[in-house]
Amino acid sequence: MTKLSVNINKIALLRNARGANYPNVCEMALLCEKYGAEGITVHPRPDERHIRYKDVMDLKPLLSTEFNIEGYPSPTFIDLVLKVKPHQVTLVPDAPDALTSSAGWDCLKHATFLLEVLDAFCSKGIRTSLFIDTDNKQIEQAAKLGADRIELYTGPYAERFAKNPESAIKPYVQAAQTARKNGLSINAGHDLNLQNLPYFKLSIPYVEEVSIGHALIVDALHRGLENSIQSYKNCLK
Ligand code: PXP
Repeated sequence: MTKLSVNINKIALLRNARGANYPNVCEMALLCEKYGAEGITVHPRPDERHIRYKDVMDLKPLLSTEFNIEGYPSPTFIDLVLKVKPHQVTLVPDAPDALTSSAGWDCLKHATFLLEVLDAFCSKGIRTSLFIDTDNKQIEQAAKLGADRIELYTGPYAERFAKNPESAIKPYVQAAQTARKNGLSINAGHDLNLQNLPYFKLSIPYVEEVSIGHALIVDALHRGLENSIQSYKNCLK
């Protein structure tokens, strides 16, 4: 079974648009769990434009599924994760002003830094995962650095999927095999959706976890819109 971890950044973005606590991020996370999510992912960024550091603290005691905190390991991020002690931390090499994550780590270039950071989390019993492109050398290095898992960056897969699913998935199957050979478990995420997810799962059945945010929240709007409009119209009868 591949677990679905719901990334709730977009819910926080909606809350932040109005200043008040609506929608309530903690309440929505609990609803995600109630409706079957097997994990909750948050990606606090330095400008706190969606998930805030306080949200991460508030969520921890409430959640009953896997809690995954992802982000760039700045000193503030590291402190937060060590304090909250989630099940998993996913390290992402995104710049402070990045719109969204768009590449995996260069584990060779940043080996010393990553070794130190991974060790800090590992010594507190937090499972570690590195966001990675489909590059054998990087995957082998991730294993050498002591990461428990890699999260395959699926943006390029999603982009190529519509044109040619077979060629889009090929590097991922090969990367997943390399990860397995090197003792790494595999997560995946970014731009996964209802169209491209079934083929990804079919091709790499042993993926441990996918984290999905953007498309899932858009689908929730699509699927809930009719019901919401009818409910409002009922108020006006
Ligand atoms: N994995 C990582 C490292 C991310 O930064 C994100 C986006 O926050 C995701 C997965 C989820 O991507 P999406 O929102 O496109 O489903």
